[in-house]
Amino acid sequence: MSILIKNIKQLLQVREQQVDILRGKAMANLPILENAYVYIENDTIIEFGLMEDFTNIEAEQTIDATGKIVLPSWCDSHTHIVYAGNRVNEFVDRINGLSYAEIANRGGGILNSAKVLAETSEEDLYQQSLKRLNKVIALGTGAIEIKTGYGLSVASELKMLRVVKRLKQESLAKIIPTLLAAHAIPEDYKNDKQDYINLITDELIPKAADLQIADYIDVFCEEGYFSVEDTDAILKAGATYHLQPKIHVNQFNILGGVALGVKHKALSVDHLEELNNDDIEALKNSDTMPVALPACSFFLGIPYTPARKIIDSGLPLAIATDYNPGSTPSGNMNFIVSTACIKLKMTPQEAINAATINGAYAMGLEKTYGSITRGKKANLIITKPMESYFELPYAFGDDPIDTVIINGQLFK
Ligand code: NIG
Ligand code: FE
Repeated sequence: MSILIKNIKQLLQVREQQVDILRGKAMANLPILENAYVYIENDTIIEFGLMEDFTNIEAEQTIDATGKIVLPSWCDSHTHIVYAGNRVNEFVDRINGLSYAEIANRGGGILNSAKVLAETSEEDLYQQSLKRLNKVIALGTGAIEIKTGYGLSVASELKMLRVVKRLKQESLAKIIPTLLAAHAIPEDYKNDKQDYINLITDELIPKAADLQIADYIDVFCEEGYFSVEDTDAILKAGATYHLQPKIHVNQFNILGGVALGVKHKALSVDHLEELNNDDIEALKNSDTMPVALPACSFFLGIPYTPARKIIDSGLPLAIATDYNPGSTPSGNMNFIVSTACIKLKMTPQEAINAATINGAYAMGLEKTYGSITRGKKANLIITKPMESYFELPYAFGDDPIDTVIINGQLFK
């Protein structure tokens, strides 16, 4: 199958050479071509350039993108889209005055989702998750990380990983599975946290590694969840099985998880709504990607990650949805790009870089996704007609997408 997209008003994120990660000032640079074309064959970007240099290419399908923007599909490096049911009642409880912590303390929150997931069949869990996955692909996401963490037992965590594996096999989108067994202390272990940690390190990690069913390991390093010491022990066990960390840190409190993540060569440290100078210093001279999750701040009403401080310190930044039933029941990356501009004060160029190439890096996919580069995967968004790509973040809450191409195939 070959597709030619012609007369593109603006082609974004055009990289002649491979780029791995964009830091600091480099994030301000979003290379674009005006009046351009892209040619793809099967699942690969073969050629692109200016229309004025276009010499006839015969394609099986030609798309006229007059007035439209084309860009690489979004790389959402942090989600929890495999879950059962929802937590809409807790949403209403929060409106009526309860905090996220108060809801969790009375058995709601992650434990509530774990209970529902345990009662849901694997097939049903798969169907519910597939629906969410297809919805976010139609919103422009072409590569997505999916975490476990609503299992909280060996059986249920493996059930979640099998569902992620099936999604990975059956979807055109690129899917990266992460083991987040250390998401909360399960009810049965509430007085024996160490026993649960041992279960993760001695049983679950070796099993998941043996099945080759997880690419990364995650821990919710937070007061009332897992301490820095707990996190250290879990990441050590993960390292034995070559599971690199991508961790939840600094969502509500600064415990020292950022420096710990850097010490363990974490691929990413995510959330960072709270961030101090020691955290910034720890991230300098590391290859760890900080990841902001602005829709979580929007939904919970907690502080936004200080993106300006991060970028102006010369660090890189990625942005992701955090799609999950408790803190972010939305997987719309277009909204994330808007929120990054409106609330994190990122420029449109920085936000789009953070949602494409840097998001790809935060999943270990920067060689194959996240930019318009010859040889990369043909995962593309074609927008509705607009004056310029600045309208992507500007028209917040809109669905700006006309056509989605995933793995060289028309999805929408
Ligand atoms: O990233 N912070 C921990 N995990 C999720 C929320 C999980 C939930 O509430 O179900 C997050 O916000
Ligand atoms: Fe999360």
